[in-house]
Amino acid sequence: MQTHGSTPCPCPSFRLRELASMYFTMVAVFLVILVVALQGSAPRGTYFPYKVPLDPQGLLELSWNVSYPEQAVYFQILIRKLKFGLLFGMSDRGEFENADLVVLWTDGHGSYFGDAWSDAQGHLHMDSQQDYQLLGSQKAPEGFYLLFRRAFSTCDPKDYLIEDGTVHLIYGILESPVHSLRAINISTIYRGLQRVQLLKPNITIPELPSNVKTMEITTPSIVIPSQETTYWCYITELPDSFTKHHIIMYEPVITAGNEPLVHHMEIFQCAAEFDSIPHYNGLCDSKMKPERLNYCRHVLAAWAMGAQAFYYPKEAGLAFGGPGSSRYLRLEIHYHNPLIFKGRRDSSGIRLYYTESLRPHDAGIMELGLVYTPVMAVPPGETAFILTGYCTDKCTQQVSVRHPDPLSPFPWDCAGRKSPDGLGRNQRMACVGRDLKDHLVPNLLTRPLLSGAPQELNQVHFQTAHPALRQVLVGIFVGPTLNK
Ligand SMILES: *[C@@H]1O[C@H](CO)[C@@H](O)[C@H](O)[C@H]1NC(C)=O
Ligand SMILES: *[C@@H]1O[C@H](CO)[C@@H](O)[C@H](O)[C@H]1NC(C)=O
Ligand SMILES: *[C@@H]1O[C@H](CO)[C@@H](O)[C@H](O)[C@H]1NC(C)=O
Repeated sequence: MQTHGSTPCPCPSFRLRELASMYFTMVAVFLVILVVALQGSAPRGTYFPYKVPLDPQGLLELSWNVSYPEQAVYFQILIRKLKFGLLFGMSDRGEFENADLVVLWTDGHGSYFGDAWSDAQGHLHMDSQQDYQLLGSQKAPEGFYLLFRRAFSTCDPKDYLIEDGTVHLIYGILESPVHSLRAINISTIYRGLQRVQLLKPNITIPELPSNVKTMEITTPSIVIPSQETTYWCYITELPDSFTKHHIIMYEPVITAGNEPLVHHMEIFQCAAEFDSIPHYNGLCDSKMKPERLNYCRHVLAAWAMGAQAFYYPKEAGLAFGGPGSSRYLRLEIHYHNPLIFKGRRDSSGIRLYYTESLRPHDAGIMELGLVYTPVMAVPPGETAFILTGYCTDKCTQQVSVRHPDPLSPFPWDCAGRKSPDGLGRNQRMACVGRDLKDHLVPNLLTRPLLSGAPQELNQVHFQTAHPALRQVLVGIFVGPTLNK
């Protein structure tokens, strides 16, 4: 399967990699670019469609764009209060050991920028091959901008291979001048990790019809609890006699200033069998939560930090309203407040774009994977723990398991196969990464076991589930596997 991100490295595998690091540090000094020399040259804003806060205080903000023709990512980091430098990089699981890093630092006189890596002990080394290309930097009233570029694949074994899926980004702020990379002790700096889908697919956005309407499902100015993890539940309802509509797009609405705290949001529709659902507004795990809220599980929208607006393909929309559809919606927001801010008001949520001109198809959301239950508890000391899910016949009856219909615009298997007319209809299939509640189990890493595609496993990084609907360019095969 060809994907944009996991292009095999074309370079020979032997590399002069393990020469004395002392030597490389000396060579690399010449590769390091003096940042001051480039000041004032950073273009800002307009070129970067994607943006995510890196740290919970909002001191660092990452914006980026992806060029598929160049197979490269352009990064722009806004450092609101630049002290003595910054570390930014990627690693398999968000750890600071064995990470691929770019470092901006100052010794109090000059400022330096370089591609670096950390070893298993967390010591930093200048990389012999400089693959983060500094494009500019600029001081602005809001902070300091750093602009650089990195190819998806660099053929440098010390570099991270940027692939499809969730990437663990790491950051750190240097709070005192350092004379060399070796002087940086990464265990003593302000640091953290952020998960994002870096390689957003390059798809054309379908046009919205002129009769599109919007509806905001947001919390009614609540106070974010002063605790690290909160799941907030808010029940709202659709207007009386709301007929069947199609949701064709949605986007996040986030209260200004709370961007670093709103981790992910979902809208669920309640089961139609209940005439009413209590108007609850509170903690999802509260004992006071009405039991009926557990029947609000049908996903209408899902967004996670770093995600963009989500568009349905032009031939389909997600149905809501009308007979057989509950008027009750549950908004669920996960607030991640590790710094325990107090008294922050929030009215975040999701804006739905919907139309009464129904498209030819109702979109469906198929949730795959396992429901998080205490049964999943991993015994201590295990190095691996395999969870297996089975579809019940109730589920498989819904899809044509044996013969996917190649003419259906939404073939069930979303397999990335080209349909007979060669149009590759599957290309805009939405695949959902549902929440594995990874934050409750900080060291749980998941890796999909893809049957029949062993060659991919070597390249796929560890993944933590990310609860957002995503557009994928290359379909993911969903279907029965025949064990040989
Ligand atoms: C998206 O794809 C089109 C055609 O395939 C190409 O011309 C364009 O440059 C791409 N855009 C980006 C951002 O890579
Ligand atoms: C990405 O950003 C760079 C730097 O601002 C800009 O030159 C380039 O045109 C942008 N590319 C895309 C595909 O938007
Ligand atoms: C880095 O800091 C940690 C924590 O303060 C300390 O235990 C460790 O020895 C330091 N490492 C080095 C190389 O100085």
